[in-house]
Amino acid sequence: MNGIEIIGLGKAVPKTRLKNDDLRQYMDTSDEWIRSRTGIEARHLCTGEESLTDLAAEAARRAMENAGIAPEEIGLVICATCTTDYMVPSMACAVQEIAGIPGGIPAFDINAACSGFVYGLQLIHSLMNAGSICRPERSCALLIGGEQLSKMLDFSERSVSVLFGDGAAAAIVRVSAEKRFFCHTAAEGDRGALYAHTVGRNQIPMLEFEGKKTVSENPLRVSESLASEIMRDGYLKMDGQKVFRFAVHVLASEIDEMEAQSGISAEDIDYIVCHQANCRIIDYVRKQRKLPAEKFFMNLREYGNTSGASIPLALADMKDRGMLKPGIRIFCVGFGAGLTWGGCYLEF
Ligand code: COA
Repeated sequence: MNGIEIIGLGKAVPKTRLKNDDLRQYMDTSDEWIRSRTGIEARHLCTGEESLTDLAAEAARRAMENAGIAPEEIGLVICATCTTDYMVPSMACAVQEIAGIPGGIPAFDINAACSGFVYGLQLIHSLMNAGSICRPERSCALLIGGEQLSKMLDFSERSVSVLFGDGAAAAIVRVSAEKRFFCHTAAEGDRGALYAHTVGRNQIPMLEFEGKKTVSENPLRVSESLASEIMRDGYLKMDGQKVFRFAVHVLASEIDEMEAQSGISAEDIDYIVCHQANCRIIDYVRKQRKLPAEKFFMNLREYGNTSGASIPLALADMKDRGMLKPGIRIFCVGFGAGLTWGGCYLEF
Protein backbone atom coordinates (compact mmCIF):
# COMPACT_ATOMS: atom_id res chain seq x y z
CA MET A 1 0.00 0.00 0.00
CA ASN A 2 1.19 3.53 -0.76
CA GLY A 3 1.33 6.20 1.91
CA ILE A 4 -0.45 9.56 1.83
CA GLU A 5 0.90 13.09 2.17
CA ILE A 6 -0.59 16.45 3.09
CA ILE A 7 0.30 18.93 0.34
CA GLY A 8 -1.71 21.95 1.53
CA LEU A 9 -3.30 23.34 4.69
CA GLY A 10 -5.67 26.22 5.40
CA LYS A 11 -7.63 27.48 8.37
CA ALA A 12 -10.46 29.88 9.19
CA VAL A 13 -11.49 31.00 12.66
CA PRO A 14 -14.33 33.31 13.74
CA LYS A 15 -13.55 37.02 14.18
CA THR A 16 -14.85 37.22 17.75
CA ARG A 17 -12.11 36.39 20.24
CA LEU A 18 -13.08 36.04 23.90
CA LYS A 19 -10.31 36.13 26.48
CA ASN A 20 -10.79 34.24 29.74
CA ASP A 21 -11.64 37.43 31.59
CA ASP A 22 -14.32 38.25 28.97
CA LEU A 23 -16.23 35.15 30.15
CA ARG A 24 -16.70 36.72 33.59
CA GLN A 25 -19.68 38.68 32.27
CA TYR A 26 -21.52 35.34 31.82
CA MET A 27 -20.28 33.20 34.73
CA ASP A 28 -18.32 33.16 37.95
CA THR A 29 -14.86 32.23 36.69
CA SER A 30 -11.37 33.67 36.44
CA ASP A 31 -8.44 33.81 34.08
CA GLU A 32 -6.31 32.19 36.80
CA TRP A 33 -8.66 29.17 37.17
CA ILE A 34 -8.97 28.52 33.43
CA ARG A 35 -5.31 29.12 32.61
CA SER A 36 -3.94 26.98 35.47
CA ARG A 37 -6.39 24.06 34.93
CA THR A 38 -6.30 23.99 31.11
CA GLY A 39 -3.67 26.29 29.55
CA ILE A 40 -6.44 28.10 27.60
CA GLU A 41 -6.22 31.90 27.36
CA ALA A 42 -8.76 32.69 24.60
CA ARG A 43 -11.21 31.13 22.18
CA HIS A 44 -12.84 32.29 18.91
CA LEU A 45 -16.63 31.98 18.70
CA CYS A 46 -19.04 32.41 15.77
CA THR A 47 -21.26 35.47 16.15
CA GLY A 48 -23.69 37.39 13.94
CA GLU A 49 -23.79 35.99 10.41
CA GLU A 50 -20.77 33.69 10.78
CA SER A 51 -21.50 30.00 10.17
CA LEU A 52 -19.49 26.81 10.47
CA THR A 53 -20.19 25.98 6.83
CA ASP A 54 -18.66 29.29 5.69
CA LEU A 55 -15.60 28.78 7.91
CA ALA A 56 -15.13 25.26 6.54
CA ALA A 57 -15.45 26.48 2.93
CA GLU A 58 -12.94 29.29 3.57
CA ALA A 59 -10.48 26.83 5.15
CA ALA A 60 -10.92 24.56 2.10
CA ARG A 61 -10.31 27.44 -0.31
CA ARG A 62 -7.10 28.42 1.54
CA ALA A 63 -5.87 24.81 1.66
CA MET A 64 -6.36 24.44 -2.12
CA GLU A 65 -4.51 27.74 -2.63
CA ASN A 66 -1.68 26.57 -0.36
CA ALA A 67 -1.42 23.29 -2.27
CA GLY A 68 -1.51 25.14 -5.60
CA ILE A 69 -4.41 23.05 -6.91
CA ALA A 70 -7.75 23.90 -8.53
CA PRO A 71 -11.17 22.71 -7.20
CA GLU A 72 -11.34 20.49 -10.34
CA GLU A 73 -8.48 18.37 -8.93
CA ILE A 74 -10.40 17.32 -5.81
CA GLY A 75 -11.74 13.75 -6.07
CA LEU A 76 -13.07 13.19 -2.55
CA VAL A 77 -14.40 15.50 0.18
CA ILE A 78 -14.68 14.42 3.83
CA CYS A 79 -15.69 16.70 6.71
CA ALA A 80 -14.95 15.62 10.26
CA THR A 81 -17.50 17.40 12.45
CA CYS A 82 -19.94 16.81 15.28
CA THR A 83 -21.56 20.25 15.05
CA THR A 84 -22.69 20.42 11.42
CA ASP A 85 -25.10 23.22 10.42
CA TYR A 86 -27.46 20.92 8.53
CA MET A 87 -28.86 17.50 9.41
CA VAL A 88 -28.94 17.16 5.63
CA PRO A 89 -27.06 17.76 3.41
CA SER A 90 -23.65 16.90 4.83
CA MET A 91 -21.20 19.71 5.48
CA ALA A 92 -18.97 18.12 2.84
CA CYS A 93 -21.67 18.66 0.17
CA ALA A 94 -22.32 22.22 1.40
CA VAL A 95 -18.59 23.02 1.17
CA GLN A 96 -18.43 21.37 -2.25
CA GLU A 97 -21.08 23.82 -3.46
CA ILE A 98 -19.55 26.95 -1.89
CA ALA A 99 -15.94 26.11 -2.84
CA GLY A 100 -16.95 25.33 -6.44
CA ILE A 101 -15.73 21.71 -6.40
CA PRO A 102 -17.30 20.07 -9.48
CA GLY A 103 -19.74 17.19 -8.97
CA GLY A 104 -19.38 13.48 -9.65
CA ILE A 105 -17.14 12.68 -6.67
CA PRO A 106 -17.96 11.32 -3.20
CA ALA A 107 -18.54 13.89 -0.42
CA PHE A 108 -19.66 12.98 3.09
CA ASP A 109 -19.22 13.75 6.80
CA ILE A 110 -17.85 11.65 9.60
CA ASN A 111 -18.49 12.11 13.31
CA ALA A 112 -15.72 10.76 15.50
CA ALA A 113 -15.74 13.90 17.69
CA CYS A 114 -12.21 15.11 18.54
CA SER A 115 -10.60 12.11 16.80
CA GLY A 116 -12.35 12.95 13.51
CA PHE A 117 -9.31 14.23 11.61
CA VAL A 118 -7.27 11.08 12.35
CA TYR A 119 -10.26 8.90 11.38
CA GLY A 120 -10.56 10.95 8.17
CA LEU A 121 -6.91 10.43 7.23
CA GLN A 122 -7.30 6.69 7.78
CA LEU A 123 -10.37 6.62 5.52
CA ILE A 124 -8.63 8.60 2.80
CA HIS A 125 -5.60 6.31 2.97
CA SER A 126 -7.79 3.21 2.57
CA LEU A 127 -10.17 4.62 -0.05
CA MET A 128 -7.50 6.15 -2.26
CA ASN A 129 -5.32 3.05 -2.14
CA ALA A 130 -8.33 0.89 -3.03
CA GLY A 131 -8.27 2.74 -6.35
CA SER A 132 -12.03 3.02 -6.73
CA ILE A 133 -12.42 6.62 -5.56
CA CYS A 134 -10.25 9.11 -7.40
CA ARG A 135 -9.80 9.45 -11.12
CA PRO A 136 -6.22 10.36 -12.21
CA GLU A 137 -7.23 13.95 -13.04
CA ARG A 138 -8.94 14.33 -9.63
CA SER A 139 -6.28 12.73 -7.45
CA CYS A 140 -6.54 14.96 -4.35
CA ALA A 141 -8.74 14.50 -1.29
CA LEU A 142 -10.03 17.42 0.78
CA LEU A 143 -10.28 16.66 4.50
CA ILE A 144 -11.84 19.35 6.71
CA GLY A 145 -12.07 19.39 10.49
CA GLY A 146 -14.61 22.03 11.44
CA GLU A 147 -16.59 22.70 14.59
CA GLN A 148 -18.92 25.24 16.13
CA LEU A 149 -18.91 23.93 19.69
CA SER A 150 -20.48 27.19 20.87
CA LYS A 151 -23.82 25.80 19.55
CA MET A 152 -23.92 23.39 22.47
CA LEU A 153 -22.35 25.40 25.26
CA ASP A 154 -24.41 26.45 28.26
CA PHE A 155 -22.71 29.60 29.51
CA SER A 156 -24.31 29.16 32.92
CA GLU A 157 -22.30 25.91 33.31
CA ARG A 158 -18.76 27.09 33.87
CA SER A 159 -16.87 23.79 34.09
CA VAL A 160 -17.60 22.86 30.43
CA SER A 161 -18.23 26.12 28.56
CA VAL A 162 -14.82 27.66 29.28
CA LEU A 163 -13.02 24.81 27.51
CA PHE A 164 -14.29 24.99 23.93
CA GLY A 165 -14.02 27.19 20.83
CA ASP A 166 -15.03 27.31 17.15
CA GLY A 167 -12.91 26.99 14.02
CA ALA A 168 -12.15 25.02 10.88
CA ALA A 169 -9.03 23.79 9.12
CA ALA A 170 -8.55 21.80 5.94
CA ALA A 171 -5.90 19.58 4.43
CA ILE A 172 -5.30 18.55 0.82
CA VAL A 173 -4.19 14.93 0.82
CA ARG A 174 -2.90 12.69 -1.94
CA VAL A 175 -1.43 9.23 -2.32
CA SER A 176 2.35 9.10 -2.19
CA ALA A 177 4.77 6.31 -3.05
CA GLU A 178 7.56 8.14 -1.16
CA LYS A 179 5.89 9.28 2.08
CA ARG A 180 5.03 6.62 4.62
CA PHE A 181 1.77 6.75 6.57
CA PHE A 182 0.59 4.68 9.52
CA CYS A 183 -2.66 4.96 11.41
CA HIS A 184 -4.66 3.34 14.17
CA THR A 185 -8.19 4.25 15.29
CA ALA A 186 -10.44 2.88 18.01
CA ALA A 187 -13.63 3.51 19.99
CA GLU A 188 -15.22 2.32 23.17
CA GLY A 189 -18.95 2.93 23.28
CA ASP A 190 -19.73 5.36 26.12
CA ARG A 191 -22.72 7.71 26.10
CA GLY A 192 -22.11 9.25 29.51
CA ALA A 193 -18.59 10.70 29.63
CA LEU A 194 -19.05 13.43 27.00
CA TYR A 195 -22.30 13.97 25.15
CA ALA A 196 -24.94 16.34 23.77
CA HIS A 197 -28.41 15.13 22.78
CA THR A 198 -30.25 16.13 19.61
CA VAL A 199 -33.91 15.98 18.62
CA GLY A 200 -35.88 16.62 15.44
CA ARG A 201 -37.67 19.99 15.53
CA ASN A 202 -41.09 18.45 14.92
CA GLN A 203 -40.67 16.01 17.80
CA ILE A 204 -40.78 18.85 20.30
CA PRO A 205 -44.41 19.19 21.45
CA MET A 206 -44.43 22.93 22.04
CA LEU A 207 -42.58 25.14 19.58
CA GLU A 208 -41.94 28.78 20.17
CA PHE A 209 -41.32 30.69 16.97
CA GLU A 210 -41.31 34.45 16.54
CA GLY A 211 -42.88 34.92 19.94
CA LYS A 212 -45.81 32.55 19.21
CA LYS A 213 -46.31 29.15 20.76
CA THR A 214 -47.57 26.44 18.44
CA VAL A 215 -48.21 22.77 19.05
CA SER A 216 -46.35 20.43 16.71
CA GLU A 217 -48.82 18.26 14.79
CA ASN A 218 -46.31 15.47 14.28
CA PRO A 219 -47.99 12.31 15.66
CA LEU A 220 -44.53 10.88 16.43
CA ARG A 221 -43.62 13.66 18.83
CA VAL A 222 -41.96 12.83 22.13
CA SER A 223 -43.63 13.47 25.49
CA GLU A 224 -43.24 16.91 27.09
CA SER A 225 -41.10 15.48 29.87
CA LEU A 226 -38.79 13.66 27.46
CA ALA A 227 -38.61 16.76 25.26
CA SER A 228 -37.54 18.96 28.16
CA GLU A 229 -34.98 16.37 29.23
CA ILE A 230 -33.60 16.26 25.69
CA MET A 231 -33.55 20.06 25.48
CA ARG A 232 -31.62 20.22 28.74
CA ASP A 233 -29.21 17.54 27.45
CA GLY A 234 -28.78 19.48 24.21
CA TYR A 235 -25.93 21.24 25.98
CA LEU A 236 -22.57 19.52 26.11
CA LYS A 237 -22.20 17.48 29.30
CA MET A 238 -18.93 16.04 30.52
CA ASP A 239 -17.54 13.97 33.34
CA GLY A 240 -14.29 15.96 33.40
CA GLN A 241 -12.27 13.65 35.60
CA LYS A 242 -13.29 10.50 33.72
CA VAL A 243 -12.39 12.14 30.40
CA PHE A 244 -9.07 13.29 31.86
CA ARG A 245 -8.14 9.74 32.94
CA PHE A 246 -9.21 8.33 29.55
CA ALA A 247 -7.24 10.99 27.65
CA VAL A 248 -3.91 10.47 29.43
CA HIS A 249 -4.25 6.70 28.99
CA VAL A 250 -4.97 6.75 25.24
CA LEU A 251 -2.48 9.54 24.51
CA ALA A 252 0.30 7.41 25.99
CA SER A 253 -0.90 4.22 24.29
CA GLU A 254 -1.19 5.87 20.84
CA ILE A 255 2.37 7.21 21.12
CA ASP A 256 3.45 3.60 21.83
CA GLU A 257 1.35 2.38 18.88
CA MET A 258 2.86 4.91 16.46
CA GLU A 259 6.38 4.09 17.66
CA ALA A 260 5.69 0.41 16.95
CA GLN A 261 4.09 1.01 13.52
CA SER A 262 6.61 3.55 12.22
CA GLY A 263 9.71 2.12 13.89
CA ILE A 264 10.57 5.64 15.11
CA SER A 265 10.78 6.43 18.82
CA ALA A 266 9.03 9.41 20.40
CA GLU A 267 12.52 10.74 21.24
CA ASP A 268 13.42 10.77 17.52
CA ILE A 269 10.14 12.01 16.07
CA ASP A 270 10.18 15.74 15.18
CA TYR A 271 6.79 16.70 16.66
CA ILE A 272 3.85 15.15 18.47
CA VAL A 273 0.63 16.97 17.61
CA CYS A 274 -2.05 16.05 20.14
CA HIS A 275 -5.69 16.98 20.20
CA GLN A 276 -5.66 20.37 21.92
CA ALA A 277 -7.93 19.71 24.87
CA ASN A 278 -5.93 20.56 27.94
CA CYS A 279 -2.22 21.26 28.52
CA ARG A 280 -2.34 19.24 31.75
CA ILE A 281 -3.26 16.09 29.77
CA ILE A 282 -0.30 16.63 27.43
CA ASP A 283 2.09 17.63 30.26
CA TYR A 284 1.17 14.52 32.23
CA VAL A 285 2.13 12.20 29.36
CA ARG A 286 5.12 14.31 28.37
CA LYS A 287 6.59 14.12 31.88
CA GLN A 288 5.79 10.41 32.18
CA ARG A 289 7.73 9.79 28.95
CA LYS A 290 10.46 12.34 29.84
CA LEU A 291 10.01 14.14 26.51
CA PRO A 292 10.90 17.83 25.95
CA ALA A 293 8.07 20.39 25.78
CA GLU A 294 9.29 21.63 22.35
CA LYS A 295 8.31 18.28 20.81
CA PHE A 296 4.62 18.93 21.54
CA PHE A 297 3.18 21.64 19.32
CA MET A 298 0.48 23.56 21.21
CA ASN A 299 -1.93 26.29 20.10
CA LEU A 300 -4.65 25.56 22.65
CA ARG A 301 -3.84 28.86 24.39
CA GLU A 302 -5.39 30.77 21.47
CA TYR A 303 -8.33 28.55 20.40
CA GLY A 304 -9.36 26.33 23.33
CA ASN A 305 -10.63 22.86 22.46
CA THR A 306 -12.02 22.93 18.90
CA SER A 307 -12.75 19.18 18.78
CA GLY A 308 -12.41 17.78 15.21
CA ALA A 309 -10.76 21.03 14.08
CA SER A 310 -7.99 20.98 16.65
CA ILE A 311 -5.36 18.75 14.97
CA PRO A 312 -5.69 20.35 11.49
CA LEU A 313 -5.69 23.83 13.13
CA ALA A 314 -2.42 22.88 14.84
CA LEU A 315 -0.94 21.60 11.55
CA ALA A 316 -2.09 24.77 9.73
CA ASP A 317 -0.46 26.97 12.41
CA MET A 318 2.74 24.92 12.15
CA LYS A 319 2.70 25.46 8.39
CA ASP A 320 2.21 29.22 8.88
CA ARG A 321 5.22 29.27 11.23
CA GLY A 322 7.40 27.46 8.68
CA MET A 323 7.71 24.35 10.85
CA LEU A 324 6.55 21.77 8.26
CA LYS A 325 9.78 21.62 6.30
CA PRO A 326 10.37 18.71 3.89
CA GLY A 327 11.47 15.62 5.81
CA ILE A 328 9.58 16.53 9.02
CA ARG A 329 7.95 13.51 10.71
CA ILE A 330 4.96 13.82 13.02
CA PHE A 331 2.82 11.68 15.31
CA CYS A 332 -0.76 13.00 15.64
CA VAL A 333 -3.01 11.75 18.45
CA GLY A 334 -6.73 12.46 18.81
CA PHE A 335 -9.18 11.50 21.56
CA GLY A 336 -12.70 12.52 22.44
CA ALA A 337 -16.40 11.76 22.77
CA GLY A 338 -17.51 8.29 21.85
CA LEU A 339 -15.16 7.56 23.41
CA THR A 340 -12.94 7.59 20.32
CA TRP A 341 -9.22 7.84 19.89
CA GLY A 342 -6.57 7.37 17.23
CA GLY A 343 -3.02 8.09 16.17
CA CYS A 344 -1.22 8.55 12.89
CA TYR A 345 2.30 9.00 11.56
CA LEU A 346 2.83 11.59 8.82
CA GLU A 347 5.85 12.56 6.74
CA PHE A 348 6.19 15.98 5.10
N1 COA B 1 -14.07 28.73 36.92
C1 COA B 1 -13.91 28.69 38.26
N2 COA B 1 -14.16 27.61 39.00
C2 COA B 1 -14.59 26.52 38.39
C3 COA B 1 -14.79 26.46 36.99
C4 COA B 1 -14.52 27.63 36.26
N3 COA B 1 -14.66 27.71 34.92
N4 COA B 1 -15.23 25.24 36.67
C5 COA B 1 -15.30 24.52 37.79
N5 COA B 1 -14.91 25.29 38.84
C6 COA B 1 -14.82 24.91 40.25
C7 COA B 1 -15.78 23.80 40.60
O1 COA B 1 -17.05 24.33 40.89
C8 COA B 1 -15.11 23.20 41.81
O2 COA B 1 -15.38 24.02 42.93
P1 COA B 1 -15.66 23.36 44.37
O3 COA B 1 -14.40 22.61 44.69
O4 COA B 1 -15.92 24.54 45.20
O5 COA B 1 -16.83 22.45 44.15
C9 COA B 1 -13.62 23.35 41.50
O6 COA B 1 -13.53 24.37 40.50
C10 COA B 1 -12.98 22.08 41.00
O7 COA B 1 -13.82 21.52 40.00
P2 COA B 1 -13.47 20.19 39.28
O8 COA B 1 -14.49 19.93 38.23
O9 COA B 1 -13.20 19.14 40.32
O10 COA B 1 -12.12 20.60 38.60
P3 COA B 1 -10.99 19.71 37.99
O11 COA B 1 -9.73 19.98 38.72
O12 COA B 1 -11.42 18.29 37.75
O13 COA B 1 -10.84 20.37 36.54
C11 COA B 1 -11.45 20.10 34.26
C12 COA B 1 -11.94 20.37 35.66
C13 COA B 1 -12.64 20.12 33.32
C14 COA B 1 -10.49 21.24 33.84
C15 COA B 1 -10.70 18.73 34.22
O14 COA B 1 -11.52 17.73 34.78
C16 COA B 1 -10.31 18.33 32.85
O15 COA B 1 -9.44 18.93 32.24
N6 COA B 1 -10.91 17.27 32.28
C17 COA B 1 -10.70 16.85 30.92
C18 COA B 1 -11.58 17.71 30.06
C19 COA B 1 -11.30 17.60 28.59
O16 COA B 1 -10.20 17.82 28.17
N7 COA B 1 -12.34 17.28 27.82
C20 COA B 1 -12.33 17.24 26.42
C21 COA B 1 -11.70 16.00 25.92
S1 COA B 1 -11.96 15.86 24.21
